[in-house]
Amino acid sequence: MKRAIIIGATSGIGQEVAKKLLSEGWQLGIAGRRENELKNLQKLSPEQIFVQTIDITQEDAPLHLQELITQTGGMDLYFHASGIGNQNIELQTDIELRTVETNALGFVRMVTAAFQYFRQQNNGHLAVISSIAGTKGLGSAPAYSATKRFQNTYMEALAQLAYMEKLDIHFTDIRPGFVATAFLNDGHKYPMLMSSERVAKHIVHALKCRQRVAIIDGRYACMVFFWRLIPRWLWERLHIYL
Ligand SMILES: NC(=O)c1ccc[n+]([C@@H]2O[C@H](COP(=O)([O-])OP(=O)(O)OC[C@H]3O[C@@H](n4cnc5c(N)ncnc54)[C@H](OP(=O)(O)O)[C@@H]3O)[C@@H](O)[C@H]2O)c1
Repeated sequence: MKRAIIIGATSGIGQEVAKKLLSEGWQLGIAGRRENELKNLQKLSPEQIFVQTIDITQEDAPLHLQELITQTGGMDLYFHASGIGNQNIELQTDIELRTVETNALGFVRMVTAAFQYFRQQNNGHLAVISSIAGTKGLGSAPAYSATKRFQNTYMEALAQLAYMEKLDIHFTDIRPGFVATAFLNDGHKYPMLMSSERVAKHIVHALKCRQRVAIIDGRYACMVFFWRLIPRWLWERLHIYL
């Protein structure tokens, strides 16, 4: 039986990925800050799911990760779904810093612990949900877009490090477009909105194929392709309110 640790499984995309892996027979260790949500998910299959409350912004989070790995009986897949994001046109410093604490510092805290674990067992798969928002700086969400780019680059760096050390570790950077979750206030006014169930299906497929980068879905892959071609001088003059 394969064992996955999912950080950020209390709602949204992470929770749907947990349900999908569960239906495929995986043993799961799930985490997030909301204990009730973790316990509700555990009720689906108490013998298959282990829970641990973890706040990735706290220094002791890697210790709790280790406890969860032990409870789960090991880790083949580390799946990082935790993240926050806000529009912040007023550029409130506290919002920007909270985003950096979760999406950059918390992310590094957890993926370095997962990498060290896989390095020791010389095997594993490390996956993160970043976003298409990392493709370009977004004036309406500076810290969000910048931290998602940070995650993209960090995954690239870890993949190179693993290769340099000839480690059998695989990396998947998942970059979805708009998904109807609490994160987007259930996505009422967003175009090309996808359901979290559909996105979870794409994600599990990408994990099985060990895709290095997965832009979800094809429409967003096209959009990102063209976004990238826009020169900086033009991009910085566009009015994009997301
Ligand atoms: N929805 C979209 O349109 C979209 C698009 C692209 C990328 N994404 C990315 O997908 C990921 C999941 O988002 P979602 O849409 O599924 O939203 P969501 O339902 O709000 O899920 C966010 C998850 O992150 C966890 N989390 C937040 N802060 C945490 C912390 N300090 N410690 C541990 N866990 C924390 C939450 O758990 P607790 O609150 O219980 O801690 C929750 O499980 C995020 O990284 C987001 O950037 C979302």
